[in-house]
Amino acid sequence: MSMPTSGRSIDDVMADLAAKRDHDVRWEDGRTFGMVYDGGPGVKEVAERAAAMYLHENALNTMAFPSLREIQSDVVGWTAELLHGPEGTAGFLTSGGTESILCGVKAARERARKERGVGQPNMVLASSAHAAFHKAAHLFGIETRVAPVRPDWTADVDAMTQLVDDNTVLVVGSAPQYPQGVIDDIPAIAALATSVRASCHVDACMGGFFLPFAERLGRDVAPWDFRVDGVTTISADVHKLGYAPKGVSVILHRTKELRKYQTFVFDDWLGGFYASPNLQGSRSGLPMAAAWAVMQHLGIDGYVGLAQSVLANADAMRAGIAEIDGLHVLGDGGFQLIAMANDPESDVEIDVFALADALVKRRWYHDRQTPPDSLHSTVSNTNDGVIEEYLADLRLAVGEVGTSRAANRSTTYATLE
Ligand SMILES: Cc1ncc(COP(=O)(O)O)c(C=O)c1O
Repeated sequence: MSMPTSGRSIDDVMADLAAKRDHDVRWEDGRTFGMVYDGGPGVKEVAERAAAMYLHENALNTMAFPSLREIQSDVVGWTAELLHGPEGTAGFLTSGGTESILCGVKAARERARKERGVGQPNMVLASSAHAAFHKAAHLFGIETRVAPVRPDWTADVDAMTQLVDDNTVLVVGSAPQYPQGVIDDIPAIAALATSVRASCHVDACMGGFFLPFAERLGRDVAPWDFRVDGVTTISADVHKLGYAPKGVSVILHRTKELRKYQTFVFDDWLGGFYASPNLQGSRSGLPMAAAWAVMQHLGIDGYVGLAQSVLANADAMRAGIAEIDGLHVLGDGGFQLIAMANDPESDVEIDVFALADALVKRRWYHDRQTPPDSLHSTVSNTNDGVIEEYLADLRLAVGEVGTSRAANRSTTYATLE
């Protein structure tokens, strides 16, 4: 399709756009485990109305749009409170988990350069830490030192201890990590960071808007937030289990002093004094306003209610998988993330990638990951009311697949073109 010489009517354009979506996953049917987080009709309505109101606003210049300064400050403040930030905890909104992580890594590098004169920075992280840390290392010229995980899939902190030195600027923990959904030993990781005067980032992109509510529901949640001494930055995504539409995450620093290391300031430009807290220049006000509206609409009680049904659904899914000979859940996460793999202790061999193909035929979508070969689910309110049907289809798919192996073993998790 080429760009038209003369423009087309709005109705024509919209009809074509709608037709393009025919082959997209139907997340509104609850059959995707991740990617889109549906907080229900009220949440959708408030987000859409806020989005329409702020579709055109630009948060680059909050002097021109003071409402966006306030919105950012409110969402950051509420998040800091949820994560037990002490007085003075400060942060910014970013476009998503990756950008929050990039900002946390950049701030750690700047801090180490200024406070300790580190010129050849390295960061220490586990193989389970999100790929965004490697992206940050690539962009900001930082060596990555990767430790393995323990049999329970948490970061091997003893191995991490062997990797830190005087040039370590950042030590990373996850709450929870994405692949198996377990929370790392954050107190040990933060203590390790402190021992070498490095920053400690907790990646709570997945957990930031879930663990505080799971804790209120009485779940056993290992310590991970600002209550842990030595944690300097936390990333928490409102656009995941915070149920805001895509494009919004929070990066928090324990103090305003530490936050300074994130901001870029340039005052030798013909365009004037330029200050920008994160990686974007112009920034849409839409996701920020939508996040503000969703958080106000749900309130703490709303989030607790959503977390309760997510936990019930995830628990039912884990129990259903455990009953199928040949399958098991990796790790003992106990929250919203589930990785399903062939059970090595069973005589029944199931190729989970063949299983994924059989599930796709029944319109169920998982992300595929390796090693080990496993199917990943992020259970959210999107999946409310479908778990029984899913488990019934899973049992049928297991029977159908038998011992066959999928030809396509790609775990591509990306936009490559
Ligand atoms: C633990 C964790 N960290 C970071 C990210 C990256 O977030 P985003 O995709 O919003 O950039 C994800 C995404 O799934 C994640 O699960």
